[in-house]
Amino acid sequence: MKISRNTSLKPYNTFGIDVTASRFISVTTLEDLKEVLRKNYSEDLFILGGGSNMLLTKDVEATVLHVNLKGKEIITETEDEVLVKFYAGESWHETVLFALENDWGGLENLSLIPGNTGTAPIQNIGAYGVELKDSFVSCEAIDIQTLELITFTKEACKFGYRDSIFKSEVKDKYIITSVTFGLTKRNHVLNTGYGAIEEALTNMGINSPSIKDVSSAVIKIRKQKLPDPKVLGNSGSFFKNPIVSTEELKQIQARYPEIPFYIISEDEVKIPAGWLIDKAGLKGYREGDAGVHQHQALVLVNYGSARGRDILHLAETIQSKIRNQFNIELHPEVNIF
Ligand code: EPU
Repeated sequence: MKISRNTSLKPYNTFGIDVTASRFISVTTLEDLKEVLRKNYSEDLFILGGGSNMLLTKDVEATVLHVNLKGKEIITETEDEVLVKFYAGESWHETVLFALENDWGGLENLSLIPGNTGTAPIQNIGAYGVELKDSFVSCEAIDIQTLELITFTKEACKFGYRDSIFKSEVKDKYIITSVTFGLTKRNHVLNTGYGAIEEALTNMGINSPSIKDVSSAVIKIRKQKLPDPKVLGNSGSFFKNPIVSTEELKQIQARYPEIPFYIISEDEVKIPAGWLIDKAGLKGYREGDAGVHQHQALVLVNYGSARGRDILHLAETIQSKIRNQFNIELHPEVNIF
């Protein structure tokens, strides 16, 4: 266990925002986590995982609890499938790579997503036609009050688009300590339907791709479009793609017939927020060190010394422009503190 005071959180959030935590505790074992919870039960805790989906706008007065539990283990396996458990502090991309090294299929489309494995279920991370829920079996989480370790099945997690029970009903009640996935050992189901993947595979000269090829294609696409947080601070998509009624879509189509959309239900569609922001002329727009990424307008970036509130101001500028031009409300995907 590592305890420090007045600690900069800059290395712990992918936006690279420099705020201070008055007290910072990092735990690597379940025993240490329990001990911290036992001693601090009455205190406000600020739970930190990989820091890849947050915007910090002020210093943190609460005790920051950095959940850094490491390890992985096979739970069961047959000839076809393996159930494998990863502890919360394992980096997400390392989890994907570990699966690929063992030729286990299911996670390849989710390659190179920043963040930790334990926080991935909270927003049901997704990319290129696949979501975490597709191979998720269960997760274990500790009740912050009672220290009881509970298993959440897939059904119990109530996964939705960038959503789960951990964002609503049981928000701030549990800390996820491990996640178990069901991965294929043979007859892998490839998800190459997402346009950009097919194109990348063709460019790579691959006709019958393996799961490693799909991962390589995804990595190639992400590297072209999405900034590496180690080089340019960011939190991936800043906003969720808005869901609007087909009626609203028709009204926008009258002015912008080329607008892309994905059908969600009979009367709802999802519109790429990146397209809206781009169309509003804001791709590459900058307010000091806070900017809209040049290659993917849905990603806000920190060019160096942006403060959380600078990014927030930029986000508000974008929201207001999109509201005026399209009559659509954009909602942040990242958690703002
Ligand atoms: N587009 C533009 N201009 C832009 C960005 C996008 O016109 O600047 C258009 C694209 O041409 C395309 C459409 O918008 O027609 C969708 O773009 P893209 O495929 O890049 O995906 P997205 O909807 O912007 C979502 C996820 C990403 C995920 C990609 C790929 C959300 C909020 N974001 O982005 O997730 O990687 O799909 O599956 O759902 C993340 O959550 O942090 C993230 C990066």
